[in-house]
Amino acid sequence: MSVQHYPPVTKMTAAGQTAVVRDIFTTVHARYDFLNHLLSLRRDVGWRRAAVARMRVAGARRFLDVATGTGDLAIAAARRFPQVSVVGVDFAEPMLRIGRQKVRRAGLEHRVQLRAADALSLPFDDGTFDVTAIAFGMRNIPDKRRALREMSRVTAAGGRVLVLEMTFAPLPLFRPLYHLYLVRVLPRLARLFTPNGATYDYLSDSIRHFPRPETFAAMMEEAGLSSVSWHPLTFGSAYLHVGRRK
Ligand SMILES: C[S@@+](CC[C@H](N)C(=O)[O-])C[C@H]1O[C@@H](n2cnc3c(N)ncnc32)[C@H](O)[C@@H]1O
Repeated sequence: MSVQHYPPVTKMTAAGQTAVVRDIFTTVHARYDFLNHLLSLRRDVGWRRAAVARMRVAGARRFLDVATGTGDLAIAAARRFPQVSVVGVDFAEPMLRIGRQKVRRAGLEHRVQLRAADALSLPFDDGTFDVTAIAFGMRNIPDKRRALREMSRVTAAGGRVLVLEMTFAPLPLFRPLYHLYLVRVLPRLARLFTPNGATYDYLSDSIRHFPRPETFAAMMEEAGLSSVSWHPLTFGSAYLHVGRRK
């Protein structure tokens, strides 16, 4: 399937959104890293670093990166914590192929393994991981409650679950500028570099429809997490949520 126009996120069924997401990430993979850095003005790198800084859990040995894409969070975590092994999962094989090359180039193939799996049905036993994280993937998953339940299930008691996501909950003074960027600038800039510009209409749309930080925190608690905190990044254009597995 190669779709050039996607309906608004609010008009998509769950199956429809998942099909769009699969389509996007099996076609955009070659330019994903470049566009990600460009369109976030390279803030994505700092945001992942902020997430990794909160992954410190005493005695942690096993991390899971859900919707790992080209593996940036998995690689950053493995670099920061030399005693840890990381598994990254994603359902878009072309993204994983690029990720595996990056893992090899980083000399981390003995500690970072990237494999195909769906976030809604993780192929791991309960309590397998000390830390489970997802970066910029939750926005693309229509059934967020189920994805959170799966992340919570595979995390050991006392372990940590982190969700890093771009959202539209900016600090008030920054709001008009950020709205202008998301609606006017980002899709046009993206069209200069990718034949399927609709991809970045979807990006902007999905960011604007992500739940508010306090609503998302309540969803994490429903999924079996406690002490959920949330942290705005770059004036609230992204948020990091952190919860503890009960
Ligand atoms: C915006 S990319 C983020 C990639 C990476 N985590 C990063 O930090 O750059 C979103 C990724 O989520 C993946 N994804 C979306 N829904 C998924 C699902 N249900 N199961 C597994 N992967 C999924 C896509 O294939 C894509 O690679």
